[in-house]
Amino acid sequence: MTATDLPRPSKSIVLVGLMGAGKSRVGRQLATQLGLDFVDADTEIEEAAGCTISEIFERYGEAAFRDGERRVMRRLLDGPVRVIATGGGAFIDPATRAHVGERGISVWLRADIETLLARVGRRNNRPLLANGDQREKLAQLIKERYPIYAEADIVVDSTDGPVRDTVEKVVAGLESFLAAGSRDAGAARRRR
Ligand code: S3P
Repeated sequence: MTATDLPRPSKSIVLVGLMGAGKSRVGRQLATQLGLDFVDADTEIEEAAGCTISEIFERYGEAAFRDGERRVMRRLLDGPVRVIATGGGAFIDPATRAHVGERGISVWLRADIETLLARVGRRNNRPLLANGDQREKLAQLIKERYPIYAEADIVVDSTDGPVRDTVEKVVAGLESFLAAGSRDAGAARRRR
């Protein structure tokens, strides 16, 4: 199965998961393979605010960032079908999660702590990891968030190695998900 055989999804594909899970890198390649546009919600938030995410946290606090994130996610989900890479906290917000449920196909890129740590590295562009021990903070986020990410429509393990391997797993997950959806729709039509 190649991506081009995939029926065109009628909803945006929304990549969720922790910082370092590969949402942007996988999202960009996935969009190219599917012939869809790609959009990064964090970049959209920064453009709307006219400053970086770290600056938003510093100047206005996390709650203000989350408000902006919710608004941007709503706008993106209400727009054309595309691949959307979310920030790690977006899907944790109940309103955004409900909206993703209606308007998108959610894909959780699940990664273990070693993979996440290696990927977030020493870059200082993530306010939640800027202070304190990154391993401890990520372990805490895994505990809090993984049960929520698990509500995604599709779960894919994002492991070390070429991005295209993870992209292929997402494509396979989408294929099964879309096939199950059309089987359900067919069964519902036959019941009517
Ligand atoms: C956050 C993840 C970041 C960014 C912000 C908060 C989070 O996005 O939205 O720093 O709450 O997990 P990435 O997951 O793209 O790093």
